[in-house]
Amino acid sequence: MGKTALITGITGQDGSYLTEFLLNKGYEVHGIIRRSSSFNTDRIDYLFEDSNIGNKNLFLHHGDLTDSSNLNRIIEVVKPDEVYNLAAQSHVQVSFEVPEYTVEVDGIGTIRILDAIRKTGINTKFYQASTSELFGGWPETEPQNEKTPFYPRSPYAAAKLYAHWITVNYREAYGLFAVNGILFNHESPRRGMTFVTRKITRAVARIVHGMQDKLVLGNLDSKRDWGFAGDYVRGIWLILQQEKPRDYVLATGESHSVREFVELAFKMAGDIDIEWIGQGVEEIGIDSFSGKTLVEVNKRYFRHTEVELLRGDPSKAERELDWNREVGFKDLVYMMIKADIDNLILDY
Ligand code: NAP
Ligand code: GDD
Repeated sequence: MGKTALITGITGQDGSYLTEFLLNKGYEVHGIIRRSSSFNTDRIDYLFEDSNIGNKNLFLHHGDLTDSSNLNRIIEVVKPDEVYNLAAQSHVQVSFEVPEYTVEVDGIGTIRILDAIRKTGINTKFYQASTSELFGGWPETEPQNEKTPFYPRSPYAAAKLYAHWITVNYREAYGLFAVNGILFNHESPRRGMTFVTRKITRAVARIVHGMQDKLVLGNLDSKRDWGFAGDYVRGIWLILQQEKPRDYVLATGESHSVREFVELAFKMAGDIDIEWIGQGVEEIGIDSFSGKTLVEVNKRYFRHTEVELLRGDPSKAERELDWNREVGFKDLVYMMIKADIDNLILDY
């Protein structure tokens, strides 16, 4: 008998990669989806189209992290061996606009699931999608690891901090196999279009093909440790396969600025060299050959409090999980830009 997994956030970037990964391992996968007025299953539709998978090994349930009644019911009915809590209002900038909702889903939503597990008494392992945003990104703390102090800098990070510690608490108080994966940024062609990497690759593809004039961004100098989501879901699974419940950082160990990401994307998509002129919100990026302005800065994309520099130290995961990321920074940018160019050609 294969194992049964329950995934919240199955329609998101990580949910889709994890579903594919677990199905390939022979799992029966159940996912919780939100009712929406438009279709929200684009990222997993290809799995349903496979007649060996859809309705045989993959099942969807309507639910929401703000509603404990459905979470209790689904957990009782599915009796999963593993629960992956990936659902979240995951956009840092948006969390400043909807702080209460963010804590309701990302913070309280987590205890709703943990408590449903505790009350039903089922023997399940619980994974919490914790985040490098917890560290606050102070340059003096890099590279950040499992022992680096937390300092949340947004309503999103503060909500995730609660979720992180309540996971630890349920492990210690009730003996649940409940663990946190403290994941640094991970991206892919399936990344939501308002996160900076995908916003850049999509816009650059469109600019190079004459469908958009410019790319408008916020802070060009913040730095992130960007990896590939496909590598990270393998790590997530490994964290739950350990004998003892422990928390792990997953990261590449490298950090790059938004500015570098932009430069590389233009170079790869159209052999365009970007030259930067001016400073702050007056700064622009021009095509050094034609002189055309291709990048502008707008203060609306700046955060009230910024996480300046994230670079993770994945050595504990490498040592104990034998986890290594396979895709490096340049390959990731190439993969994303190529996919966005291919999408344009398909749409055309
Ligand atoms: P994502 O693409 O934004 O997906 C979020 C998922 O959560 C979607 O399936 C979304 O459903 C669902 N969701 C949102 N609110 C919900 C609610 N109230 N009830 C039920 N489901 C809800 O995020 P991701 O990049 O895959 O990230 C997965 C998890 O890892 C998140 O918890 C995120 O905070 C965390 N994380 C991500 C990264 C990263 O770099 N990607 C790094 C560290 C931690 P809809 O499709 O209906 O919107
Ligand atoms: N989104 C966005 N849009 N970010 C911009 C822009 C822009 O136009 N211009 C500059 N940035 C900067 C942000 O200020 C931030 O410093 C950086 O680009 C990355 O922003 P996002 O891609 O939105 O990701 P994030 O790092 O804030 O959050 C992501 O990673 C976290 C892990 O560290 C999300 O996936 C979170 O859910 C995740 O926890």
